[in-house]
Amino acid sequence: MDFFQHRDGVLHAEDVDLERLAEEIGTPFYCYSEATLVRHLNVFREGVASCGKDPLVAYAVKANPNQAVIACLAREGAGADVVSIGELRRALAAGVPADRIVFSGVGKTREEMAEALAADILQFNLESTSEADMLAEVARAAGRRPRAAFRVNPDVDAGTHAKISTGRAENKFGIPIDTAAQAFSAAAASGDIDMVGVAVHIGSQLTDLSPLEAAFRRVGDLIGELRAGGHDIRTADLGGGLGIPYSPDSAEPPLPADYGKMVAAITEDWNVRLIFEPGRLITGNAGILVSRVIRLKQGVGRCFVIIDAAMNDLMRPTLYDAYHGIEAVRPRGGEVVADIVGPVCETGDTFARDRALPRLEAGDLIVFRTAGAYSATMASTYNSRLLTPEVLVSGERSAVIRPRRTYEDLIGQDRIPDWIAKE
Ligand code: LLP
Repeated sequence: MDFFQHRDGVLHAEDVDLERLAEEIGTPFYCYSEATLVRHLNVFREGVASCGKDPLVAYAVKANPNQAVIACLAREGAGADVVSIGELRRALAAGVPADRIVFSGVGKTREEMAEALAADILQFNLESTSEADMLAEVARAAGRRPRAAFRVNPDVDAGTHAKISTGRAENKFGIPIDTAAQAFSAAAASGDIDMVGVAVHIGSQLTDLSPLEAAFRRVGDLIGELRAGGHDIRTADLGGGLGIPYSPDSAEPPLPADYGKMVAAITEDWNVRLIFEPGRLITGNAGILVSRVIRLKQGVGRCFVIIDAAMNDLMRPTLYDAYHGIEAVRPRGGEVVADIVGPVCETGDTFARDRALPRLEAGDLIVFRTAGAYSATMASTYNSRLLTPEVLVSGERSAVIRPRRTYEDLIGQDRIPDWIAKE
């Protein structure tokens, strides 16, 4: 459920009229609903409330790293899952307490480890034995003893798009679950790291609980094996991954309550603190991309609706063939079947083909739904286009939470070396 609804013929974000907002901000822009963000966090939290003792919901910052979004979730008690020092700094700056921050990712550098160690974060999720060796060295040099988990790769097919599937043996993520016990013993032997837990994340936009269930069962077996080997396992990080509805035709993804029931049943006797890292589920449906139709163009046997947003603003359709619902802000009568395209010079700059929409004219506003996760954050300036601004709405209030950059920002960052400038 979200808070984007038509009222008196015009789409609103909560109580804000999107036509009015578009006049004020200019298009394209991303618009997020605070009530939707908070609702999704709470629905997920309630779903997993009875799983283990004091479960931690660590929002996966990569889904939408705007500090206003992180701050809103932090105010509600969420932690953060970060994968770079940039994300760690954002999370801390937005008010997430360090003891609710988990650091994931396959390529943490020595510098990143040292900074996260100094911040005294809750836990490092290690993805290789060499990474554990590096963390031990960094910890020794700093005279600190970090808490860490090994992320295991359970070799389970998540049944999602290949580019966002992470739990198969051939993927770069985690250590093979079969060798995890040895890796734990080696990492714990040095005494430099407190090996507190196990982590797993098999992919994103999962629409079926069974691969998650299979992965968690394997993690449960491993926890038993590790305890038998003398390890004091206190946390299990079950990752993110729950899918959300993008298309009216696709299967309904599992409800957080059903996910919570499944997790509670499997983890009943684990006796650990569970950590969850949802990203898309929290922010996905809390955001839209608002864009204006520049012109219509009749091609051979098809109509193109050319809009002022492009693939650089919302990469998901061209990168993953992702479907995003498209709606008119003020629907006219009648219908058009058209290709919705941006101005970028690539055929891949196509958001939808043969999509049935209310009739559109130049100047009309449209929105892309479900654009609150992996959308603004994956944007680029390709074709020397300015990064899209972001706006947060709460009731009748709206605030620009990232202004549109200027062309001076965009062009002024380049440097022409003397030897070229002089010639
Ligand atoms: N934890 C880890 C270790 C992750 O790698 C991810 C996502 C998450 C949590 C959050 O997963 P979520 O709950 O959002 O599914 N750009 C792609 C999605 C990439 C997901 C990467 N990892 C897309 O637009 O579909």
